[in-house]
Amino acid sequence: MEKKRTPTVVFGEWAERGRDEGMAKGHQQAVDHMLEVALKSQKSFSFLDAGCGNGWVVRQVAKHPQCVSASGVDGAQQMIDKAQTYDSKNHYTCADLDIWKPNSAVDIVHSMEVVYYLKDPSAFLENVYNCWLSEGGVLIVGLAFYKENAVSHSWPEDCGVSIMHLFSEKHWIELFQKAGFKEVESTRFGSKENWSGTLILRGQK
Ligand SMILES: C[S@@+](CC[C@H](N)C(=O)[O-])C[C@H]1O[C@@H](n2cnc3c(N)ncnc32)[C@H](O)[C@@H]1O
Repeated sequence: MEKKRTPTVVFGEWAERGRDEGMAKGHQQAVDHMLEVALKSQKSFSFLDAGCGNGWVVRQVAKHPQCVSASGVDGAQQMIDKAQTYDSKNHYTCADLDIWKPNSAVDIVHSMEVVYYLKDPSAFLENVYNCWLSEGGVLIVGLAFYKENAVSHSWPEDCGVSIMHLFSEKHWIELFQKAGFKEVESTRFGSKENWSGTLILRGQK
């Protein structure tokens, strides 16, 4: 059996092979819903995408009339290279989300299909709460790899990725609460037969 590789190595290769485009298409509907939830009743806002891939969500949000700044962070250099090729206006950083901190706090942190790839998702959520978000800021996370979505359980083998944390919906809610988030809400978007939907978690600082 082939040795598993780290998420950023695997997704760096996906970017080289153009698989980032199909991934963006596959995530579009759930992300549109996440943005609707996160931007509801926001006046002007700053936005950060954690694990931004090729930056497609940053480019989309930057067009919002109330958006004052949009930026993205990803640990795969090939993803960041693509983001910077497509977009010279918004800011992209190549960094490890397990340790990175922004220079200034933002109003909305968004993250689609990323947090379960991190070494310590609980420490990441605490870091976002303490160092990334301004007071009253919102974290919105989308995840399709979770216990109740049985069809996702084979992904670590299918994709050959070394780090993938399989938690239940209840456990994710508890991690948000433990990090300090208030008004934690979870929903499942797009569920159908053999697919429990994208688990969407929202919390407020
Ligand atoms: C499934 S992709 C999702 C990309 C993007 N959010 C999207 O919806 O198209 C997961 C992304 O998380 C990034 N990632 C995984 N672990 C990371 C880490 N420790 N630090 C930074 N980025 C990481 C990968 O490089 C990859 O681009």
